[in-house]
Amino acid sequence: MKSSAPGKIILFGEHAVVYHRPALAVPVNQVQAEAEVLDSDSAGVWIHAPIINLHAELSTLPPNHAIGSVIRQLFSTFQLSSRAGEKGGIAINISSTIPIASGLGSGAAVSVALIRALAAFFSLSLTNNQINEMVYEAEKIHHGTPSGIDNTVITFNQPVYFIKGQPIETFAVGKPFTIVIGDTGVPAPTKESVSDVRKLWLRDNNKYENIFDEIGQISLIARRSIQSGKPELLGELMNENHALLQQLTVSSPELDTLVFAAREAGALGAKLSGGGRGGNMIALAKQAEAKQVAESLIKAGAKNTIITEIK
Ligand code: MEV
Repeated sequence: MKSSAPGKIILFGEHAVVYHRPALAVPVNQVQAEAEVLDSDSAGVWIHAPIINLHAELSTLPPNHAIGSVIRQLFSTFQLSSRAGEKGGIAINISSTIPIASGLGSGAAVSVALIRALAAFFSLSLTNNQINEMVYEAEKIHHGTPSGIDNTVITFNQPVYFIKGQPIETFAVGKPFTIVIGDTGVPAPTKESVSDVRKLWLRDNNKYENIFDEIGQISLIARRSIQSGKPELLGELMNENHALLQQLTVSSPELDTLVFAAREAGALGAKLSGGGRGGNMIALAKQAEAKQVAESLIKAGAKNTIITEIK
């Protein structure tokens, strides 16, 4: 049984979303995580994930292992362990084209693909909400205090307007638009940047509450622009959001260089995306100019680029 799940980018609102402000995220289907579950002659539950050099039996993984915890959660919720495999065991193969620690949601995508593949193997029918809740538990291992936006957009595979703790809102795109994603090649230390923002917020509550409010406002206006078919307005909003993220200390010289290069190459706006201090940035480009923006990003040091159409 094989299942897959897409990557994601946050268009607006990262970090502020942890503080209950709205954020917008969209799936990126050009990159995918895949999980396959097979019967195996070897007893136990064997996990093979060459991307992270993992070849292990489930019981040997520590309790805080994200992949192990996803499987254990599913097994205990549905009392599956005794039924593991007809031939005595099962083998789980995990692969992914989503770069790790780049802000594209690789951890959440692996968890979603894994749960779907296991559910199919054991003939369980799970709702998206059930999957989303399980993946959120695993996200806590990856990121400490995640807002839940990554698991939500990846589970539902649709644009989401996300406010922590509120019912999920997906939204329609009035007119397609093109985003160029540029990877700094530097791993994004999301757990650390989220924790550093918390320290700043604890020290000067007023200042950071105001920044979060401004970011939340940007997400709200961005959603309206997207829905009403005016995506060209997103460029300026990206630039404003990036400046606010700089104030949160989550940009980096590499991200700033790529953001600047994208704007110079004709992008309508650009910002970092995700946890920051590494990982990816995004730029809004006219479709005909997207290639030229992507090439400029590579010249400016990007390790990889993806051009994606949001529709
Ligand atoms: C990480 O992709 C996005 C952050 O806002 C953290 C989170 O929402 O959990 C930085």
